[in-house]
Amino acid sequence: MNFWAWFVGAFIVLGLGMVGWQYLQPATEVATPGHSMEPPDTSSIDTGDPIVAVNLPERLSTNAQIGKNVFEAKCAVCHGVNAAGQNGVAPPLVHQIYEPNHHSDGAFVYAAANGVQAHHWDFGNMPPIEGLTRADVQLVATYVRELQRANGIN
Ligand code: HEC
Repeated sequence: MNFWAWFVGAFIVLGLGMVGWQYLQPATEVATPGHSMEPPDTSSIDTGDPIVAVNLPERLSTNAQIGKNVFEAKCAVCHGVNAAGQNGVAPPLVHQIYEPNHHSDGAFVYAAANGVQAHHWDFGNMPPIEGLTRADVQLVATYVRELQRANGIN
């Protein structure tokens, strides 16, 4: 083979190789402290199992107790007992993501009334929840806040 043909051929192969190698490198993650929109990794948890361990407060306020009843009737089927989540179904509401600064009580009312498009987790959408007043959901939020506080989420 002609030397120059070989030289040019090698050059092209090398060039393509370098472009391909760069293409295959993972994009560098930009570290965003606080609220990343990456779903937390729950791959080591069995489907349907709780996602977090929830410490229970010594007592609930009267409103939180009513909220607990509403929660158990309407939300626990997905969000799990004590709002600990169920892997593959729905997230724990006792979780840093849902601290009051990031998800206000209004976010609870909005979620129940309108449903939620999956965005923090890979569990699909939350449908609107029928048969609840705004006050009912407010009581659920009170309950979840008391659970959160007992777990250091303020
Ligand atoms: C059919 C299952 C299901 C039921 C029932 C359900 N949820 Fe959800 N909920 C979900 C899923 C799934 C998500 C996570 C969406 C995501 O990826 O961010 C979610 C997310 C939420 C969020 C976070 C909203 C946001 O803005 O990110 C709140 C608050 C919430 N649920 C409250 C409730 C309350 C209160 C009830 C009961 C009245 C309830 N959910 C009942 C499945 C459910």
